Amino acid sequence: MIQFDTDRRLFSISTAGSSYVFGLNEKGVLQHLYWGDPVAAADCAPLLGSRLHSSFDAALDRDAEEFAYWGGLSYMEPTLKVRWHDGVRDLRMAYAGHRIERADDGKETLTVVLRDEAYPLEAHLIYGVRPGHDLIERHALIVNTGDRDVVLESAQSAAWSLPELRDYRLTHVTGKWAGEFQLRSASLTEGKKVLESRRGFTDGHANPWFAIDEGTATEESGKVWFGALGWSGNWKIVAEKTAFGRVRVTGGINDFDSEWTLGPGERFETPSFVGGYAAGGFGAMSRGLHRYQYEHVSPGRDLRKVLYNSWEATYFDVNAKDQIALAERAAMVGAELFVIDDGWFGQRSHDRAGLGDWTVNAEKFPNGLDELIGKVRDLGMAFGIWVEPEAVNPDSDLYRSHPDWVYHFPTRARTELRNQLVLDISNPGVKGYIVDFMSKLLGEHDIAFVKWDMNRTITEPGMQDHPLNRQKELWIRHVRSLYEIWAELRRRFPGVAFETCAGGGSRIDLGMLRYADQAWPSDNTDAFDRLSIQEGFSYVYAPKLMTCWVTEAVSGMNKRVTSLKYRFHSAMTGTLGIGANLNEWSEEQLREAAALVAQYKEIRPLVQGGRQYRLRALEHKSVDAVQYVGAGDMGEESVLFAFLHAQKLGDGLPRLRLQGLDPDKRYEIYGMEVDGAKDDGPEVDGVKGDGAEIDGVKGDGPEVERAKDVRSGRALMRIGVELPLRGDFDSLLYRIRELRQP
Ligand code: GLA
Repeated sequence: MIQFDTDRRLFSISTAGSSYVFGLNEKGVLQHLYWGDPVAAADCAPLLGSRLHSSFDAALDRDAEEFAYWGGLSYMEPTLKVRWHDGVRDLRMAYAGHRIERADDGKETLTVVLRDEAYPLEAHLIYGVRPGHDLIERHALIVNTGDRDVVLESAQSAAWSLPELRDYRLTHVTGKWAGEFQLRSASLTEGKKVLESRRGFTDGHANPWFAIDEGTATEESGKVWFGALGWSGNWKIVAEKTAFGRVRVTGGINDFDSEWTLGPGERFETPSFVGGYAAGGFGAMSRGLHRYQYEHVSPGRDLRKVLYNSWEATYFDVNAKDQIALAERAAMVGAELFVIDDGWFGQRSHDRAGLGDWTVNAEKFPNGLDELIGKVRDLGMAFGIWVEPEAVNPDSDLYRSHPDWVYHFPTRARTELRNQLVLDISNPGVKGYIVDFMSKLLGEHDIAFVKWDMNRTITEPGMQDHPLNRQKELWIRHVRSLYEIWAELRRRFPGVAFETCAGGGSRIDLGMLRYADQAWPSDNTDAFDRLSIQEGFSYVYAPKLMTCWVTEAVSGMNKRVTSLKYRFHSAMTGTLGIGANLNEWSEEQLREAAALVAQYKEIRPLVQGGRQYRLRALEHKSVDAVQYVGAGDMGEESVLFAFLHAQKLGDGLPRLRLQGLDPDKRYEIYGMEVDGAKDDGPEVDGVKGDGAEIDGVKGDGPEVERAKDVRSGRALMRIGVELPLRGDFDSLLYRIRELRQP
């Protein structure tokens, strides 16, 4: 997969669907040559060579450098910028060798070493490629081989050079609290488009991912180049287009207010920046990223549990009695995990106090936490708990005894956000405090799940007892320390699953997902709003990693009213959870919920492990549809969710063409219905399925007499299915199964 052509001085990285080629030109520049559909590396040889536009400009090949160190005639976004002990700020990096390694699992790694001509510094450019994935994992290792300090002013992970295209359309996501993961696309003109976080963690305003196409790619077709960065602090992705038409995307740790002093013999490892090329449009890009996350990023391989979370039911008003009542109801509807959210500890009866005091509140839990945990376990569920270890309320015992543990500048006021400040978790005392209280919590109680929250950006970035010339290391130290804490907790408690959350969907990236089993995409749980949030999420991250709750019929976010079925269908497209006050649900609602949970469990392997197709071919503004395809016990299986937002002017809906099926196979297709949802249940070409008969509230699943339609994969994909959706906020769920000939 990785080769070096010694005669032509070409490096090539080949995957099943892509080639990536760069070489060493006559001036010693490591010049990017090609990235796209598979080619023979030797055919790229004519592209290698320095070219000049005018005597006023740098040679054009520097615009295509694999690793753009800042020095000499270099004007683009640098990948490495340093300051030497003597004040010199210039690099001259020359190729010093390379090695290609192969691991037991088939992963190949190329390391190209560049060395400064005059100063003792090396940059190791590392490229990893795994069998079966059209992705390249890149990062850099900067090594100080001398005996003096060197200051890294910027050390980026990688620069991705794009081929010559007619247009460069950049797609990314943006958002805010309650409106995360909104897709945006625009053509790049000359200059830079910067996506970044300066808030201390990956935040909802931007996510470290980009995709570039020629302006014509769709879900199903077209060439897409993309990358996702694995860093959970301040990060930066710069898409830059030069006057010569070159486009390069550089990304890594944000150099804003950042510096790192590399001592003698020390190494600095940049985070991984995974890039890929997909010839089959945005859908193929996302499926490639999802599979990579399942196989190589997120730790938990098991199916994610159906969870119940009590936040929206009780907020801070938590006590043993109410939580036990909720747990009983949660078990009735089929939840497998009961998660108690904020409010169980210290003097935490609102968001103004208690954060940092991680002892069980004795008034709320007079018999300790184990009374609730025991009940939850008796009900057959696992138990999970909310924590926010990196932050503190000034009104807390922790802050009163350690006011210097928070980031601050002594001469400045400590700005509060959500009435809290952020702890300097790189301080060994603070880090020890967090590891200790978490170990005590997880060691003394039967806890299987941790929701780790972070509701405060970092401001006034001053670290106490830390050298003045190393204060700007804070942004990096915080993230590294966080990773170390999670790694240590995962090592000590291998059976505990973790969820990443940060005031909604703010800390979700490939760095965090190395430690987290799942992620909370948004505090907005309105089932309709969630569709666009979840769609944006799905461009980069896999459905199994996305926690979605069913909440109340009248959304607390916007008072929108939706049916139970619609809310469930929206949440069933990821990892299903319930976040409503079940104590106020009627028997009928509980029965319907139980049936829908049972349906989810039936289709869970497909949703959480299958290939996901966003069915945008319809391009009908009022309809969203998503399909999952995978192998079942009986052959190929699929499920389809479709959502109608609002029917207007008597408009009919066009047919929906499915994807990902085998054209030559025959499939049975039927609507999955439950009692109570019968009236607005789906029809497949005029054949309406019967509703479920559910005797008790708790059941193993709806016994449905299903009316089935049989069609070929070709017909389903080319002619499509009707969408018998009506009115506002209607939805359907179809199950599609390969029909094996007897
Ligand atoms: C954040 C989370 C919520 C909830 C609250 C608790 O806002 O995103 O899900 O846990 O904190 O305070």
